[in-house]
Amino acid sequence: MAADVALAQALAYARDLRALYEVSRAREEEANRAHDKLRAAYQQALAYAVDLRKSHRQMQRSVLQSLLGLANALEAKDEYTRGHSERVAGLAQRLALAAGLGIAEAKTIAEAGLLHDLGKIGVPEHILRKQGPLTDEEWIAMRRHPLTGAQIVAPLEFFADAALIVRHHHERHDGSGYPDGLKGDGIPVGARIVAIADVYDALTSERPYRRKLARAEAVQIMRDDAGLTLEPRLTELFLDLVIDAPADRSV
Ligand SMILES: [Fe+2]
Repeated sequence: MAADVALAQALAYARDLRALYEVSRAREEEANRAHDKLRAAYQQALAYAVDLRKSHRQMQRSVLQSLLGLANALEAKDEYTRGHSERVAGLAQRLALAAGLGIAEAKTIAEAGLLHDLGKIGVPEHILRKQGPLTDEEWIAMRRHPLTGAQIVAPLEFFADAALIVRHHHERHDGSGYPDGLKGDGIPVGARIVAIADVYDALTSERPYRRKLARAEAVQIMRDDAGLTLEPRLTELFLDLVIDAPADRSV
């Protein structure tokens, strides 16, 4: 008799256990289904984020293209500066590659070269076109252009390195430049490169206040400035490129 009771209790216990097992298995399956749904939603969100990032980048690239067009239009108005930024960009890119920088970095430096003087859009026309020497006040307005240019390109996240180059393209090796008076290696390498290309193109172009210099004269002036206002190692490298270039082109 006692054995029957024990058997009945054991059977009841086994049934309870089985019911518990089934409940827990159903819960586990439900959890798995929820997990799968969550994973699918996460993957969809990820794909959406990638698409969004891609179109955001495309949009920023088109803003850059518009800025390049604007810089071009700004320069084209003045016969003395026409084509200046394009030449600076080409020279800077060649110098960057000769200095051993990577292709992507050289491209960024070239793009910064194209936009280095964009901030002149904020300088009054009568100052930009003035034939004689500038007054102190006019110089202050003129010296604001690297900061204005950097501010214009600041919203372009992928262009942050180039924005730094735009900001610092008038810094000088000996610290006498602007806007921050940076010195030597404290100046971003791209800004040192654009500065060298900028000086060379300015010297070898006609200006309202002086004639265009011959290549040999420009080379001599820059050689004298190497180690003072211009970074010596990059200047020497640049002058080697200039001297070796065929007579019909700068570098
Ligand atoms: Fe400039």
